Parts: sequence; structure tokens; C-alpha cells
Amino acid sequence: MKVISTINEIKDLLTERKKEGKKIGFVPTMGYLHEGHLKLMEECKKVSDLVVVSIFVNPAQFNDIQDYQKYPRNTERDLKLCEELNIDIVFLPSVEEIYPEGPISTLKMRIPHLMDKLCGSHRHGHFEGVIMVIGRLFHVIQPNVAFFGKKDYQQYLIVKEFVKELMFPIEIIGVDTVRESSGLAKSSRNARLNSEELEAATLIYRSLKIAEEYCRKKATTIEELTQVIQEVLLTSPLIRVEYISILNARDLMEIFELKEEIFIGIAVYVGEVRLIDNHIFKV
Ligand code: PAJ
Repeated sequence: MKVISTINEIKDLLTERKKEGKKIGFVPTMGYLHEGHLKLMEECKKVSDLVVVSIFVNPAQFNDIQDYQKYPRNTERDLKLCEELNIDIVFLPSVEEIYPEGPISTLKMRIPHLMDKLCGSHRHGHFEGVIMVIGRLFHVIQPNVAFFGKKDYQQYLIVKEFVKELMFPIEIIGVDTVRESSGLAKSSRNARLNSEELEAATLIYRSLKIAEEYCRKKATTIEELTQVIQEVLLTSPLIRVEYISILNARDLMEIFELKEEIFIGIAVYVGEVRLIDNHIFKV
């Protein structure tokens, strides 16, 4: 496994590999790897000749400097996990390498119909920062295929749209959410929860499954379903709800009736830690 931290070095290496006709697969991450990230890497290995994983906590996508500073990091452990999975190249750039002029860019890229809702309306500038770093990483690595988790379903759709609009010749593949046995979606942020908060956080997925069952048992409305989810979440005093949104799963557009494939997205604070999850099902 090669660990590379400069753009020049990784470009040189990948140019060589591409000349040999190798199919390059790419998994961008912010590190503090868990089974969710590892699943992306495994899926990537299945369809690529060479797998590149990036580990970069992207300052441009954090709207809260404290959240950026407190984001968990453990490069040594991450590299060990990548090594165990036989990853070919880990790209580990510094902030200066990706943002030589600082993480505040003059270019603002927006996809309003996908960005102005859910996490986009609560974390201003977040998705602009995500596509900025993804655009730069895609230019550097020029993969044939890249993997994103559906745990961040909004991010996945935004990246797909971004790639389509800018005609990047890259296939974007979405991977289902990996969960703890308790149902809690794996997340690097879970490391910041104490045992009581971890217990409370299991209510997130439980509320989504209860909503699905409720929907199947009786005809209901969006308002009523939102209420059902809210009541489950608020059984814990440790949870503060940021949003509960029920939308069309295809394009995250507003819906007025519960039909076809619906998306329920939730963001909550458990103590001080912000967690998101979602559930997609057919009604
Ligand atoms: P990060 O949160 O590290 O996640 C990296 C990738 O892992 C994302 O595509 C995310 O959706 C996926 N992932 C996280 N938890 C998962 C889980 N439980 N199951 C399946 N996939 C999961 O998302 C980011 O980093 C950043 O925004 C990034 C895309 C790297 C840009 O900076």
C-alpha cells in the first residue's frame, strides 16, 4: 500500500497505472474509518483494478469551526485498516495541498433543488464545500468509478448531479447504509457519544422503522407520520430534533401524499453531537 500526500506524486503514479489500462476506483473519506467506509472500499475493490482511498477532513464543508476541530481523527489506525483491506493507494493530503489559497473559495457551486433542504438548509455552505473538495479530488485522481454511502443520501444525489452537469467521466455508485446491531448507522461521530447517548441514538433508526410500519398498517398523512417519528425521538431527553423531512426518494422533491418511493430524513443532536440517518421505502 502506498501512502501519498502530494498531488504531483499521486498524479504521476496514477498516470502510469492508467497507461497500463487499469480501472481506477476511488473512495473519498474524512477518516476515522468504520465498517461503513470499509464496505465502500470492498464494493470498490470488486469492480476496480486499483483502489484509491482519500482521507481528508475537509475544512470547507464545516460551517462550525468547533465541529471541524472536534472531528475525530486517527490516521495511524485508519492506515492499518486500509492495509488490512489491501488498498493500493491512500491519499492523505494536507489542507494546504488541497487549498493552497485557503479553504474559502471564490467559486460558489450550487445545485439549489438538491441543496436547499435537509442538511443544506441547516448547515450553510456545507454542500458547496463537499462538491468543491470532490471536484478537486476527482481532477487529481481521475477515477473511473467512485463510491458514496447512502447514509448521506442527499450528498450522494448531489455528487451524482454535479458529475452529470460537469460531464466528469466518472461512474458514481451508491452503497447501502451499514448499521450497528442496534440499528444505529455507523458514523465517525458515534465515537463522541457516551454510553447513555449511544443508547438514545438507537431511537433514530427505531423511529424510522416504526414510521414504515405505521405507514403500512394504515392510511396516514405526512404530518401524522412526522408526529409519530417526533414522539419516538422525544422519548429521550438527550435528543433534540433538527429536522424530520419526508420527500420523494428519487429527487428529494416535496410530496403531498405518501405514495411510491418515499425518503424520510432525520437530523438530531444527541447531546452535543449531530447525527443524521434516513430510510427509503415503497408505500
Ligand atoms: P465521511 O463522513 O468520512 O464518509 C465517507 C463516505 O462513507 C461517504 O460516502 C459516506 O456516505 C460513507 N458512509 C459513512 N457512513 C456510512 C455508513 N454507515 N454506511 C455506508 N456508508 C457510509 O461523507 C464524507 O466523509 C465527506 O463529505 C466526503 C464525501 C469525503 C467529502 O469530504
